[in-house]
Amino acid sequence: MAQFPPAYLAFLKENHIDPKIYEKQKLQPRYARILRFNQRTLSEITKLIEQIASEAQCAVALVPSIRGFLRINDPLVKLNQLEAYKAGDIMGIDISSGVAAMSLDVRPGDNVLDLCCAPGAKLLFLAELLEPHNGKEAANTCGTVTGVDVSLHRMATCRSLVKKHSGKNKQFIRLYVQDGRTFGIGAPKAGWWDPQVVQKAARELPKEVPVKPWFGTKMMQSKYACLGTDLYDRVLVDAECTHDGSLAHVVKYERWGWDRLDEQVVNDDRPQSVPLLQQQLLENGWQMLKPGGTLVYSTCSLSRFQNELVLYKFLSKHSDGEVKVEPIELLQDGKDGSPVASPIWQPDSFTDGKEQEIFARMQNAVRLDPQVSGTSGMFIARLRKFQ
Ligand SMILES: C[S@@+](CC[C@H](N)C(=O)[O-])C[C@H]1O[C@@H](n2cnc3c(N)ncnc32)[C@H](O)[C@@H]1O
Repeated sequence: MAQFPPAYLAFLKENHIDPKIYEKQKLQPRYARILRFNQRTLSEITKLIEQIASEAQCAVALVPSIRGFLRINDPLVKLNQLEAYKAGDIMGIDISSGVAAMSLDVRPGDNVLDLCCAPGAKLLFLAELLEPHNGKEAANTCGTVTGVDVSLHRMATCRSLVKKHSGKNKQFIRLYVQDGRTFGIGAPKAGWWDPQVVQKAARELPKEVPVKPWFGTKMMQSKYACLGTDLYDRVLVDAECTHDGSLAHVVKYERWGWDRLDEQVVNDDRPQSVPLLQQQLLENGWQMLKPGGTLVYSTCSLSRFQNELVLYKFLSKHSDGEVKVEPIELLQDGKDGSPVASPIWQPDSFTDGKEQEIFARMQNAVRLDPQVSGTSGMFIARLRKFQ
């Protein structure tokens, strides 16, 4: 990776990110997710794994802690050339993304808001996690997923993925092309799936014209569903970031041209403006979350300015009685094949007691550091709302 342009190297230095992490990319296993995992029988899954192992000529196994994820041991395998990929049975997604989505701990019936959802890898996974895991077909009462993203072209990709891969789940997914900093549309009203409930309520609905989803079924677009005022049970803020921890993404610039890396990652004031955007996304996600609900803040950056310091500012505004940073149990001791997490960054010494107290409140947040976890880089904080 000696070819990194000077501006990117300076960015890594300023952000205390070791350029050696990128050397790991060619040594790490590949990960993929089996699509429509809940709807497959054990023997179908076993057959699919054997087929992939035989084609890839390496060991392939399920990661027990992350539902439907496969570890493919050869780092050089080209996923998009596998038959299972071409047939739409698997999609490439790093296990660090699986951990971020699973940390949200969604349960059937939850209304989930994914505030930076495109291109949609986590959104599709969250929709599958909502299904009852008993092999039966998904019912509309599973819950809902509302995806929001400001980028129209990335949302177009997300819509294609939902249409192609989400099967019956597309009934309870809706997408909005909107700014996640100001998005304020409540969760679909309970009963949105039932034409009788919707019809009965029609006369009592306010005259207001609702903002319809950019993508969603007719029932999801109904005035009844769109004028829901409930907050969400779960919110994912997988925030816009500089992607420096996403090893596979960064090394692609070797082919795409390093100029583009400069342009897209470290151009103008991006390292300064991105943390502000992240704070605003986190704050709005919090406003849209029900008391008792869970919010996950994640980024694929390893920069402390985009992770710990964003969380620090958030916790400075929200008291211990209002928010707790909870442990991510599925990462404890790397059990069941889950990656080993690293502690968060904190200063060597604190300027005052308040700073020390806020860092103490953050200790359950984690980093997935490629040098330790064997995954792409990721920061994950799981926040529980109490009031
Ligand atoms: C890390 S990516 C999200 C990846 C996605 N969660 C997934 O798993 O496929 C960050 C996303 O944030 C979006 N974004 C940037 N600014 C935004 C804003 N103000 N409101 C909503 N989304 C925004 C970007 O368009 C980008 O798609």
